[in-house]
Amino acid sequence: MDILSAIILAFWFILPAYAANGLAVVFGRGQRLNKPLDFGHNFIDERRIFGDGKTVRGLIGGTAFGTLIGALQFISGEQIALPWLSSSAPIGLWIYLASYLGASQITLYLLIYQWLTFSPLFFILMNLPLNSREILAPTIFHGFLLSFGALIGDLIGSFIKRRLNLQRGQPAPVLDQLDFILGALIFSFIEFIPPLEIIVIILVLTPLIHLTANIIGYKLKLKREPW
Ligand code: CTP
Ligand code: MG
Repeated sequence: MDILSAIILAFWFILPAYAANGLAVVFGRGQRLNKPLDFGHNFIDERRIFGDGKTVRGLIGGTAFGTLIGALQFISGEQIALPWLSSSAPIGLWIYLASYLGASQITLYLLIYQWLTFSPLFFILMNLPLNSREILAPTIFHGFLLSFGALIGDLIGSFIKRRLNLQRGQPAPVLDQLDFILGALIFSFIEFIPPLEIIVIILVLTPLIHLTANIIGYKLKLKREPW
């Protein structure tokens, strides 16, 4: 697979984690119907468990939004895979885009990926009985694992920071950029382990994207610090 296809595929795979982590910042703002996830409690070292930067609304809102993004991806993935299989059907915009990028393999990978997530297509092709549970479960499962995993990873990152006596919002290079992505990847392995090159791309590019996004969030006054 060429590098561009691999990068696109890596982002396609990890997108719900980014969505969850980014939207937690938006949902977590404000005090109304919101509480810190540690409810203000301290750990045995007399420091906060997670701190005020990890809130109930951030966790729930981020997970819900990431799950929704994952479901939308799943549905659009079906749109790619189905016409590709029955080549008589009109070629979707995505296929067009993929072939335009010279990435016919990306379609193949997405298709395999859909199979591995036990998509409805998988059931149809394998002549397995298909019911609403089998359609709904994988549709929400992938996005949920990545988003919930991302926010749990982020939470563990904050837990470690508090143990190191870093106050809320103080930078912890590498940890701040990678905690959520490691959480997302580890949770997603329950469902599917992506090729190593995809994992490497995600781990290398995420810190750059994370820093850029945070600077934008800071300029838009969504975030308190530019990291
Ligand atoms: N946020 C939230 N709930 C979460 C995650 C994030 O409410 N589960 C919101 C908080 O408003 C937080 C902001 O998103 O301040 C930015 O997140 P992050 O940079 O991860 O938190 P920090 O405030 O920097 O806290 P920490 O030092 O613990 O990383
Ligand atoms: Mg931070």
